[in-house]
Amino acid sequence: MKVGIIGYGSMGKMLLWKFSDSGKFGREDLLAANRTPEKLEEAKDIAVISSNAEIASEADIVFVCVRPQDLRTVLSEISPFIRSGSLVVSLNGSVTFEMMEKVIPGKIAKVIPSVTAEIGRSQTLVCYNGSVEDRDKEQLSSLLSVIGNVIELPEEEIGMGSELVSCMPGFIAAVFDVMCESAKTHTSIPEDQIVKMVLNTMSATGDFMLNKDMAFEDVIARVATPGGITEEGTKVIFDRFPGTADELFDKTLAKRKATADKAAELFGRTE
Ligand SMILES: NC(=O)c1ccc[n+]([C@@H]2O[C@H](COP(=O)([O-])OP(=O)(O)OC[C@H]3O[C@@H](n4cnc5c(N)ncnc54)[C@H](OP(=O)(O)O)[C@@H]3O)[C@@H](O)[C@H]2O)c1
Repeated sequence: MKVGIIGYGSMGKMLLWKFSDSGKFGREDLLAANRTPEKLEEAKDIAVISSNAEIASEADIVFVCVRPQDLRTVLSEISPFIRSGSLVVSLNGSVTFEMMEKVIPGKIAKVIPSVTAEIGRSQTLVCYNGSVEDRDKEQLSSLLSVIGNVIELPEEEIGMGSELVSCMPGFIAAVFDVMCESAKTHTSIPEDQIVKMVLNTMSATGDFMLNKDMAFEDVIARVATPGGITEEGTKVIFDRFPGTADELFDKTLAKRKATADKAAELFGRTE
């Protein structure tokens, strides 16, 4: 199986190197293209540096890792060269299958990895258009398993799903940044030590819950004894944080819709 990556930015680069590191592919099985080809110089020993059209005509799975504003141009460029059995994979959650099918007639998937793919712990979302067969799904899932877990969702849930896995590392980092900034004002413990203490506790709490199949309230019940110190803190969070969380998702989902509307304009336009 040959895998092609179009767009060697944050996502394309990560996928290319992870696929190569997996040991499943020889150099000849990985193809890569980028608008600025010089950037691919560093990847020439792990992949065949190609054009978008060459990737479309040779790869069985074509990952299109470009920003939404560039997606239509790239899909139009590769469309004449895509073989009928090949699978085109878009990394963008806002551009719908309906939009992409105006340009690419065959099998299309959407894949949303999370940044934790870097350590093999992505929660990768996938969804497929109606032309994709079970065999293609299995092949793509097996490929994506090298970066972590694969979660199939219906297309209409990809937006909120992306907030939960792809945006969430940013939200988590922001929440704990606020916590650490506040902690700094209440202690003489050095900042780097505060951050490490919190990060390790956060990561261990997640693993603890997953390993023991615990719910959030189970952890709270274990730590926050009634009338105790932790309960003082959890009360503040339950009083104040729900409004912030609601506002956060309202805003991100509105932004997602605006991005989708913009993409729909681009896809509606005839070139
Ligand atoms: N970053 C994330 O955490 C994340 C997570 C999930 C999904 N996504 C999605 O993944 C997609 C890519 O995001 P990104 O963060 O990887 O973007 P990025 O870092 O900006 O990379 C985009 C790449 O596409 C290349 N490109 C643009 N037009 C091209 C063309 N016509 N032919 C070939 N290559 C072209 C760019 O080339 P140049 O070198 O010339 O600029 C650049 O290397 C987006 O749709 C994004 O929504 C991103």
